[in-house]
Amino acid sequence: MISDLNKSGTVTFTRDGKSVDFPVYTATHGPAVFDIRSLYKKTGAFTFDPGFTSTASCESKITFIDGDEGILLYRGYPIDQLAENSDFLEVAYLLLNGELPDRETRDRFDNSITMHTMVHEQLKNFYSGFRRDAHPMAIMVGVVGALSAFYHDSTDINDPKQRLIATHRMIAKMPTIAAMAYKYSIGQAFVFPRNDLDYTSNFMRMCFAVGAEDYECDKVLCDALDKIFILHMDHEQNASTSTVRLAGSSGANPFACIAAGIASLWGPAHGGANEAALNMLEEIGSVDRIPEFIERAKDKNDSFRLMGFGHRVYKNYDPRAKVMRKACHDVLDALGVREEPLLQVAMELERIALEDEYFVEKKLYPNIDFYSGITLRALGFPTDMFTVLFALARTVGWIAQWSEMIVDPDQKIGRPRQIYTGEAKRDYIPLDKRRL
Ligand code: SDX
Repeated sequence: MISDLNKSGTVTFTRDGKSVDFPVYTATHGPAVFDIRSLYKKTGAFTFDPGFTSTASCESKITFIDGDEGILLYRGYPIDQLAENSDFLEVAYLLLNGELPDRETRDRFDNSITMHTMVHEQLKNFYSGFRRDAHPMAIMVGVVGALSAFYHDSTDINDPKQRLIATHRMIAKMPTIAAMAYKYSIGQAFVFPRNDLDYTSNFMRMCFAVGAEDYECDKVLCDALDKIFILHMDHEQNASTSTVRLAGSSGANPFACIAAGIASLWGPAHGGANEAALNMLEEIGSVDRIPEFIERAKDKNDSFRLMGFGHRVYKNYDPRAKVMRKACHDVLDALGVREEPLLQVAMELERIALEDEYFVEKKLYPNIDFYSGITLRALGFPTDMFTVLFALARTVGWIAQWSEMIVDPDQKIGRPRQIYTGEAKRDYIPLDKRRL
């Protein structure tokens, strides 16, 4: 709860000769906020901020982004240090609890997640209701939403024990559900999780093992995917996280809230950009066609945008994109892929765009989605699985932010207002008297 400790003076709004003061609160890092919760009561007016470009919807201690400096901190730790030195479940524990775990705590957390990786046998029936060519994100929205029907013992959001079980179930089952969506789409049998494998190796095996032949994940490839998952885990109040918070503010159960987050993430302007960015690189096809697409991206009459470029917050290089680009090279090197045409196109596209006045002036840099597609495809995933992998990792951030919201005394049901510019009050006209 924003306390008076953060209070630093007031801001005054003046209109028609009448002035009203509102408290100002300072942040640990980043912009201060004007507390305008009483604005409508005191002035009879709303603020107007479509897209929430200047609106803080909540107080949070989880993730900090400095868009101008290209800084991303998870509970104060820089993303590149975590990607380099940590692993998925340790960072998951950090996001959920605020501190890095000691050995005993870590083992207990790992064991709890491992014990929740399997899904109810009946859940498999949901998959057979989809066509084989259903987009895996459509399956994820449906199956994750259905979890509410299987786990009634962890849907009471007011019970801390039930919230904890739901949190561990979500994190543990997402890889299983995601791997099942992939297997279903390619007509292969589902593969059970194994308790002797770490989180990411388990996921890779559930995707790529088959009944006739087991799969052992190459350490370099699994480490790279684990790093990619860390990069995608959380990102402050982005569209899908805000969707999860808004859904949760009504008291909806966590499984339904995560399903809402998956739906929002699917959009090409958000998490769907990794799939769209790879499709764009394939459409460009070769370095000599890059200028044509750069011009299209700058043409206001053309809806084409450089997918994987630009960001609402980052007006500098996305720190995740730097780590992503290195992971991309590491994976291609480990696979002995010397000539990846799409990587050549991506690197030349980045070079040209970063020198082009339009992109420089609008501060458009590569974001996390620019290099992820090439890497995930090299790891063996089809394009339509890219956003599923994003959702798998982001589930940790969603559930951490949802948990923070549930216990925040400042939070109440989210219910924005509007500026109405429609028809003034008018009376009903009988059909025989209407003239259009
Ligand atoms: C993610 O919020 C998050 O944190 C998201 C995310 C996370 O981890 O949760 O980081 C993940 O979603 C990354 C973003 C992935 N999306 C894309 O790569 C899609 C392509 N990017 C754009 O659609 C766009 O940059 C957004 C949606 C990411 C940001 O849009 P904004 O902040 O609303 O900015 P805008 O659309 O107002 O653009 C500002 C200007 C516009 O020109 P003008 O109207 O000012 O003349 O920049 C232009 C835009 O036309 N512009 C682009 C562009 N992105 C913005 N022009 C060409 N290509 C682009 N990619």
